[in-house]
Amino acid sequence: MLSRALRPREARASVAAGHDADATQAFAHDLRAALASQPRRISPKYFYDARGSALFDQICELPEYYPTRTESAILRSRAGEIAAQMGPKAEIVEFGAGSCTKVRVLLDAMQAPARYLPIDISGDHLDAAAAGLRKDYPGLDVQPVAADYTQRLLLPAPVRGAGQRVGFFPGSTIGNFTPAEALHFLRTAAQVLRGGALLLGADLVKDPAVLHAAYNDAQGVTAAFNLNLLVRANQELGCDFDLSQFAHHAFYNAPLQRIEMHLISRCRQKVRVGDEVFEFAEGETLHTENSHKFTIDGLRALAAQAGFAPGPVWTDPGRLFSVHWLHAPQ
Ligand code: AVI
Repeated sequence: MLSRALRPREARASVAAGHDADATQAFAHDLRAALASQPRRISPKYFYDARGSALFDQICELPEYYPTRTESAILRSRAGEIAAQMGPKAEIVEFGAGSCTKVRVLLDAMQAPARYLPIDISGDHLDAAAAGLRKDYPGLDVQPVAADYTQRLLLPAPVRGAGQRVGFFPGSTIGNFTPAEALHFLRTAAQVLRGGALLLGADLVKDPAVLHAAYNDAQGVTAAFNLNLLVRANQELGCDFDLSQFAHHAFYNAPLQRIEMHLISRCRQKVRVGDEVFEFAEGETLHTENSHKFTIDGLRALAAQAGFAPGPVWTDPGRLFSVHWLHAPQ
């Protein structure tokens, strides 16, 4: 299981919240382990230092990267229906809330939201985002929870007289988990949300050419985002990766329904991590990320396996992205 969640703000977190030494040690450990194993594979959470988070924000604005704007459009156009599912005085629990931006469209449509519990590993960043939200929604009870939502979660007890507790996990971050991690996350969410529901964003299987373009943008922002892992390794761990000798490689693995991102070695070369040296053959890769794509039925089946009762699904006219309402039984 991932020890930290995957989203940009969380890595920002580990720097900002003073976890620097632990985080550096964990990065060194995981990079060594990745380079010592075959195939070589490391968690995508290491993309997200401040520069990686900024690059991810740029990715979200790219013409080729459809998920962010498509999900936003679905949430905007279906906010009334979603709010009706939530009912009055609902409480929102957002997993990996970061800047608490996406929730606003829900809050604007909801009937007397009781409370908002944004969860993020970055305590400082979360407190600032919560303060901004309190200013814009003066009657709203905002209680930030600084925690790793992929681990066991202890949340404040529901407010007396409140409506249902609704989890919010947008962005298709679930696609960056392994299938086992996704199931584990959903099981944990079903527990925490007992008697309520989860509102989940999931990217859909589609024309591979559209997927390929989304992860191989013309401006090279995704390439810079991928290579940022090596930039971090050089800056934080004193490694000697020659950035000109590694290339971004992203492709759709159709049988596994996922985009795979790799860093591919352009030549035979050696790299140093601390006092260890690792050799790359020409064409050998470090596998840095999977971004799973789902069918609507597949996502519903996964949610059902985790204990949810799948409800309405909203999608865009091009069926690029999906937003699921999943009931969490009592
Ligand atoms: C954060 N996550 C949902 C993004 C994705 O599409 O899997 C990360 C990303 N990787 C490359 N581009 C964007």
